[in-house]
Amino acid sequence: MISALTAIDHVGIAVDDLEAAVEHYGRTLGVKPVLRERVVDQGVEEVLFAAGGSFIQLLGALGPDTPVGRFLATNGPGIHHVAYRVSDVASTLEQLRREDVRLIDEVPRAGSRNTLIAFVHPKSMGGVLVELVQEG
Ligand code: CO
Repeated sequence: MISALTAIDHVGIAVDDLEAAVEHYGRTLGVKPVLRERVVDQGVEEVLFAAGGSFIQLLGALGPDTPVGRFLATNGPGIHHVAYRVSDVASTLEQLRREDVRLIDEVPRAGSRNTLIAFVHPKSMGGVLVELVQEG
């Protein structure tokens, strides 16, 4: 059975200056961070804003030689990935494997907010880096 896709969990947006972006979102959209987390093994610092049951995720690179740092050098600031919330990441990965979809993460791993996540390669998803998120 295919695991249900239940929501857009978040949109990940790469920014050059995290402090300036947080200030900008607060001033223009009136949002306040609900979570701030440094994920050292991914080389990223993230700030989440709630938008209904979904989130906006601002991503600042911890250095130039990190995935988001390299993304910024190539593309500049902008949308980095889209995250779909699913009921079961492991079974979604199984389904994608059966369909020969190229995966970045073969098995689910821990994300922020006590979630399980896995990334799917943009080459298999119409040029969009897709993240699957299962809430804890
Ligand atoms: Co994300």
